Amino acid sequence: MQVVYTGADWHQYWLESLKSDKSIGLVPTMGALHEGHLDLIRKAKEESDVVIVSIFVNPTQFNKQEDFDNYPNTLVEDLAKLKGELVDFVFIPKTETVYPEKPKLSINFGELENCLEGEFRPGHFNGVGIVVAKLFHIIKPNKAFFGQKDLQQTAIIDRLVKDLSMDVQLVIVPTRREEDGLAMSSRNLRLSAEERSQALILIYSLSKAKQELLANSPWFEVQNQIKRDFEETPLASLEYFELIHPESFTSYSDFDPTQKSSICVAAYLGNIRLIDNLPIIP
Ligand code: PAJ
Repeated sequence: MQVVYTGADWHQYWLESLKSDKSIGLVPTMGALHEGHLDLIRKAKEESDVVIVSIFVNPTQFNKQEDFDNYPNTLVEDLAKLKGELVDFVFIPKTETVYPEKPKLSINFGELENCLEGEFRPGHFNGVGIVVAKLFHIIKPNKAFFGQKDLQQTAIIDRLVKDLSMDVQLVIVPTRREEDGLAMSSRNLRLSAEERSQALILIYSLSKAKQELLANSPWFEVQNQIKRDFEETPLASLEYFELIHPESFTSYSDFDPTQKSSICVAAYLGNIRLIDNLPIIP
């Protein structure tokens, strides 16, 4: 496994891959790797000749400085995991490498970012868009792998690629869960034992709502019931629970079985913000 720190380091390997007609798969991450990330890497290995994983905690996508400061740094463990997966390259750029200058460009994803994560984390998707565009330009992958866990992020990146005619194929990998159903996340490590057990309300509420909708209950009733369930869970505080179209992210006022739809949730458990989603009609 080769560690590269700059675009110039990578360039020679990129040229070699190009000459030998090898396809490149990129898995962008912010480190603190767990099995969810490793699923993306396994998929990338299946679908590409050369796999490069980037580890970069991107400062421009944090709307709270405190979140950025507290982001876990587990580089030694991460590198051991990547070696175990037989990853070919790891790209670990310094902040100055990715941001030699503060970007003046800002990306506005319009209606895609006026809701859910975009609404509750102003500026977040601008930062994601900028860093993913930079990574695509530096690495020049044929395919890039993202998790369905961050559904709105996948919609944003899909827009970025289409609107800027980028020559990258996106592959979306299903959410990896703990045995009890909690979606894996680097943030789970920061939950207390009590918060961890009450965090199951995210997947319980998604599954319950899906079941109710498929049994023809009206969405507003389902949503109200879920809000009450959250109110009865002392350590949880609900931010949103919405039924949306998974590409346009427009909210539905009711479930339509002929349309693609997913339910998205965000909630705090204590100070830790968690998100999850479940497709109803994929
Ligand atoms: P990060 O949170 O490290 O996630 C890296 C990738 O892993 C993302 O595509 C995310 O959706 C995926 N992922 C996280 N948890 C997962 C799970 N339980 N199952 C499957 N996939 C999961 O997302 C980011 O970093 C950043 O925004 C990034 C795209 C790297 C840009 O900075």
